[in-house]
Amino acid sequence: MATNEVLTTIKKRRSIRSFKADQITAEELQTVLEAGIYAPSAGNQQLWHFTVIQDKQLLERLNVSAKAGAARIDDEHIQKIAKNEKFNIYYGAPTVVLISGKEDGMAIEADCAAATQNILLAAESIGLGACWVNLTLFALGGEQGEQYKQQLGVPAGYKSFSSVALGYKKIEVVNAPTRKENVINYV
Ligand SMILES: Cc1cc2nc3c(=O)[nH]c(=O)nc-3n(C[C@H](O)[C@H](O)[C@H](O)COP(=O)(O)O)c2cc1C
Repeated sequence: MATNEVLTTIKKRRSIRSFKADQITAEELQTVLEAGIYAPSAGNQQLWHFTVIQDKQLLERLNVSAKAGAARIDDEHIQKIAKNEKFNIYYGAPTVVLISGKEDGMAIEADCAAATQNILLAAESIGLGACWVNLTLFALGGEQGEQYKQQLGVPAGYKSFSSVALGYKKIEVVNAPTRKENVINYV
């Protein structure tokens, strides 16, 4: 099979769940954001919006609200996470990028997912740790959702679809979860 830098980055990328407290540089942040906006989008609409959150207090509030929202979900795994006081949905990452998209976009959830994956891959390619964190959505969908959206500057008519925790890796993750077999057929 062929191999190159892109393929190596795709395979090496892992969800990182332990971060150093040091903030990433402005250049690193711009690099990953630019990768996000170079994602494909349906009809080339590019109806996404990226919110960079580096305010520690706000991240902690989102963490608490997300867990409160998650606690109301009828799922054993999510309940366990929500009730764990020590658990931080951002794993101590100093930067979180919230990805939102215009609700009436042609295929906005897919566009935002493509941008999210580009951010994850760009982060890995420059040695940053990153984790796709959808638990944030429990905070934004809760009672304080509108308040958060305003504070975060999510444009009117936009909905948040994902977030990415970013920072320097405290622990390298080398083993990829086993890939499921028999997921390809040829016609
Ligand atoms: C839509 C989506 C939502 C996710 N949400 C979370 C999350 O809230 N918290 C988390 O720790 N990981 C989250 N993940 C990461 C997955 O758990 C992870 O990608 C999966 O376990 C495979 O591990 P890998 O990323 O190292 O390949 C999410 C991934 C996706 C695609």
